[in-house]
Formats: sequence, structure tokens, C-alpha cells
Amino acid sequence: MRFNISFLFLLIAFASCTKSSNPSHIDLQKQIDDCENQLKIAVPKLTDLTKHPRLIDKDKKEWKEVTNDKLIWTSGFYPGVLWYAYDITGNERWKNEAIKRTEVFEDFQNIKEHHDIGFMMFPAYGNGYKISGKKEYKDILLNSAASLASRFNPNVGTIKSWSNKMHPRWKQHITIIDNMLNLELLFWAAKNGGDQKYYDIAVRHAETTMKNHFRKDLTSWHVLEYDSINGNVLNRHTKQGFADDSRWSRGQAWGVYGYTMVYKETKDKKYLDFAKKLADTYLSLLPHDMVPAWDFDVQSNPKEEKDASAAAIVASSLMDLSTFVDSETDQERYFNAGVEILKSLGSEKYSAVGKADSFLLHSTGAKSLGHEIDVALIYADYYYIEALSRLQKLQSKK
Ligand code: GLY
Repeated sequence: MRFNISFLFLLIAFASCTKSSNPSHIDLQKQIDDCENQLKIAVPKLTDLTKHPRLIDKDKKEWKEVTNDKLIWTSGFYPGVLWYAYDITGNERWKNEAIKRTEVFEDFQNIKEHHDIGFMMFPAYGNGYKISGKKEYKDILLNSAASLASRFNPNVGTIKSWSNKMHPRWKQHITIIDNMLNLELLFWAAKNGGDQKYYDIAVRHAETTMKNHFRKDLTSWHVLEYDSINGNVLNRHTKQGFADDSRWSRGQAWGVYGYTMVYKETKDKKYLDFAKKLADTYLSLLPHDMVPAWDFDVQSNPKEEKDASAAAIVASSLMDLSTFVDSETDQERYFNAGVEILKSLGSEKYSAVGKADSFLLHSTGAKSLGHEIDVALIYADYYYIEALSRLQKLQSKK
């Protein structure tokens, strides 16, 4: 039988295309095993309980640790990684390590100096409570919610993210898009014996942010300055993006994650619609490998560094979003996009296996401030393993 050579070519192209667009081709177990093996290398080196791993510099192998300081927003992610490692592997070693690393910053429950208490406490104590049933963490989480809620300004309708002293460019009430993530702590507290006002504060913050923080094209600014008394928007700026009016990639990711989570907690369809629009906008801006440059407005320059942390945050929220949407087409679309992102992150290009002690390489913390450029970041690893855990649960349901 004679094959027409171009037909054969077409068949091969079709087969490879089907393969790459078929999410069942993700080797989830391998990506999970890679994470666990990385932890087996990293954890024995991380023995100082007064510090936590924050980043691995480019071309270095080992975590740079920073002090567990009330002003450093990243302390909860390492214990969070360990809780998820326990969740997806069942290995008690990670649970024991997670407990040890969680319980060192119990007094952070009283932080009132900034909004990051949500980022600090929920991945650690929240996951400990949810994954391992550590009931004794409940009061710590409730106190943390009270501390966060104390920063809510009813005149504005949002939680104040930063202090003006630390961020003197702004004189009044500062709210950053990242703050959306902290609302999860408030929703949790309202459901778990805390004051119902936490729910109302979270909803009002989400509502105000939805109104003011997004451009017509559904991309977001990073920093908004509000008049503390009348709540008017005074300025729309950036701290970590390329320019005040640019589209900082992780900011877009916080938006997608934030509104997906707000829908999960409220079941109010307007947040689902908004989360979908934000996700669609984000996905439409992605390059071929599904990992954005650190700011979408510099992405056309191939020399600009990537931000794998943004990709991991969105991959995790897409796993959830795919289960909230009604139509099968949307379910598949968001699920497949999340899986494609995870496949890319687990690939040779982004995986740290054999190169450094993290899960992922190529994140950018704050290029505009001149630091954490093309590094491994603990929160990239956290959202990556969260996404793998969510995917594992979805696959086991199917
Ligand atoms: N929440 C701080 C950051 O995204 O860099």
C-alpha cells in the first residue's frame, strides 16, 4: 500500500497535537514524586527554626533562608508546602516537619502592621487545620482573622494592605491586588465560629476591589491609594510591576485566584463571572509555554525574565474554577489550561530537579525593585504543590 506522504505527515501532526492537548498525558505521579524527592534533598538542610526558606538565587542550588520576621510575608509558605506534601503523599515525615515549621510563629496571629497575616497564617495553620485536623490551630486562626479585620476601613470598603511608613510614596489608604488572597482567612473564620462581620468585610473588600482595581480590559493595577475619609480613588500605581499602568503578571494571577476563591466562599454568581473573565484575560495574554514574563507589558522582549510563581498561582485556581463553571466546554477549557500550565512547570525548562533544591525555577519577585530576578521562590513551590494536590483530587473523583 502506498501512502501519500503529506497524508502521513498530517496523521503524525494530528497524533502529536492530540497527545499534547490531551490532559490525561500529564504524568501527575511523576510531578508529585519529583516534589517529594526535592523535599528529601532540601528538608535535612533546613534545620534553623528561626528562619524559613525564601528563594534560591539564579545558578545557586540551596535555599536562602530569611528570619521569621513579622514584616516578612513569606513565612507561611514553607510549612504550607510541607502540609500539601503530607496531603498528596500520606508520608508522616512531612506532617511532622510541617507541625514543627508551623508552630514557630504562633505569635504572628497578632500582627496588625500589614495585611500579609493572611498569607502568613493560612497556608501554615489553615492547611494544618484542614489537612490534618489540628483543632488547636482554630483559635490561632480566629485571632489572625481578628487582626486582619482590624485593618478594614469602612469608609473605603477595603482592608489597608500596607503602612504608609513602609511605603511612603502613598500617604493614605493603600490596597494592593494581592490582598484578595487574605480574604480566605476571613471567610474561614466566619464559618468556623468567628464573628459574621468577617464575612461581610471580605465581601465588601471583594466588591470594592472589583469596582476600582481593574481596567476596562480586565487587567489590574497593583497598588490603589484611596482617600481614607471619603473612599475616593486617589491614585492607581505599581510597586512590583514594570510601570504604573502596566500589567504585572503576579498581580493578574492574584486576581484570578482571589475571585475564584470569593465565588467558592460566597456562591454569588457575579464573582464567578468575574473570575472567568479574569482567567480568560490572563490566558489570552500567555506565551506559548504558558508561563508569563514577570510583567505582560515587557513580554515581547524574550530577554525579560519569567515568573513561574504567577503560573503556579493561576494553575491552582484553574483547578477550582473548572469545577465551578456550568458548561462542560468551560469545565474542560479551564481544566485543560491548568493542566497545560502544570505540564510546562514540571518540564525540563521550569523544573528544578537536578539543578536546585526547590520544585520550580524561573520566578521573579520584584524586578522593578532590583531583587529576586529569575530565582526560585517558596510561594511558587507552594501554589505549584497546591495545584498538584487539587489535580490529584479531581482525578481521583473521576
Ligand atoms: N504579595 C507579594 C507579592 O506578590 O510579591
